Amino acid sequence: MKIATFTTVLLAATLLALPTITAAAEYQPQPFQQGKDVIWLPTPDGLVTKMLDLAKVTTRDVIIDLGSGDGRTVIAAGKRGIRALGIEYNPEMVEFASRAAQKEGVADKVKFVKADLFETDFSEATVITMYLLSSLNLKLRPKILGLKAGTRIVSHAFDMNDWKADDTTTFDGRHAYLWIVPAQTEGRWRSTLGELVIKQNFQFFEGTLQVGGKPVEITNGRINGDRLSFTAGLSQYSGRVSGNRIEGAVSGAASGTWSATLHSDNPVSSPQNH
Ligand SMILES: C[S@@+](CC[C@H](N)C(=O)[O-])C[C@H]1O[C@@H](n2cnc3c(N)ncnc32)[C@H](O)[C@@H]1O
Repeated sequence: MKIATFTTVLLAATLLALPTITAAAEYQPQPFQQGKDVIWLPTPDGLVTKMLDLAKVTTRDVIIDLGSGDGRTVIAAGKRGIRALGIEYNPEMVEFASRAAQKEGVADKVKFVKADLFETDFSEATVITMYLLSSLNLKLRPKILGLKAGTRIVSHAFDMNDWKADDTTTFDGRHAYLWIVPAQTEGRWRSTLGELVIKQNFQFFEGTLQVGGKPVEITNGRINGDRLSFTAGLSQYSGRVSGNRIEGAVSGAASGTWSATLHSDNPVSSPQNH
């Protein structure tokens, strides 16, 4: 009887201990679990696909997912042959995502690091993906606007307030937004055409261009990464911005090429960065 009781107790103790051992070995993230600045909820795989498509990712890209959770966006990028990095504060999620990357055979393409996304340098990225909160997007916005012109940002669900999206996609009633970091063009430029004054508002701008000694209002001022275009009078202007230089072409009433240099006494100080 005593032996039977002892065996029963031992068996019960073993059974009780088992789930704990299994749970520790196979950590399973739980939807809505607490994160540092935002909870974990996964982006549905269908939307991950659409977000990568929206950014028109290629194998030349480097993708960084800010708050990478179980790693699904980073792993999906790896499966397209793209180098990708996940920044995640929760070390168990980092481990979980790293194991998933091994299982999916993309460990040579992707990496997960345990870090605070607000204290991480992500300037290496050509594409940033995120599923955070509007308030966190806004907090990140100045840093994002300082990235290389042409860097694409894709956010699941949350926008960037008055920085309007360049494009959007939907999946199963959910939305994702795309922004292309615009070149900083605010200021007075000495151009081969006459003085060009640009007042930039993210990917849009207004201002004037001196034509025949008179300032003409700019319309349709648009910046797409390092490319800019506008209309002044009866001509359309396009150009490529590289630091404090623009090289471009003009068509319409006038035709040919033009170039401009930012006045050295008027550095870029776009109000959007404040
Ligand atoms: C809503 S989930 C999105 C997960 C993944 N990007 C996706 O779309 O499936 C947000 C993730 O950000 C992580 N997170 C929260 N605050 C963070 C911070 N300050 N630094 C890094 N990661 C953070 C959370 O742990 C969570 O995994």
